[in-house]
Amino acid sequence: MQLDELYRQVIMDHYQRPRNEGTLENGTVSVALRNPSCGDELTLQLSVKDGIVDDVRFKGSGCSISIASTSMMTETIKGKSLEDALELSKEFRAMMRGEDVDDEALGDLESLHGVCKFPARIKCATLAWQALEQAIKTEDHEHAHHHD
Ligand code: FES
Repeated sequence: MQLDELYRQVIMDHYQRPRNEGTLENGTVSVALRNPSCGDELTLQLSVKDGIVDDVRFKGSGCSISIASTSMMTETIKGKSLEDALELSKEFRAMMRGEDVDDEALGDLESLHGVCKFPARIKCATLAWQALEQAIKTEDHEHAHHHD
């Protein structure tokens, strides 16, 4: 099987059966974003405990690239520290800029590598990560506040 075909299948699988879709009863932070280029919306919810992503859900509409990226992102960050999740986000964004990245850290997300060649679709792939980074920032801020 060609690598491109394998990647296409991974993306379609996440698009058709998105992981962690829905809402959290006990979320600690929620971020809603809109892709300005198409109007598609995404709401990302995290439940953070002791600096670890304990649970995550998302809701929204979008193209296959956007949903697949969100689904894979939620799967990859669950159980990770906010610090590691942020690190992963940086890796993903670097991949979207066409830079060499740590394939092993990215796992299934590597399947979105080809998107970097289509500038119009990069926003679709990075929307989830933008939401994640905003959620982490909010969490960090609140955490710092509690200790004031
Ligand atoms: Fe709307 Fe990709 S076209 S998220």
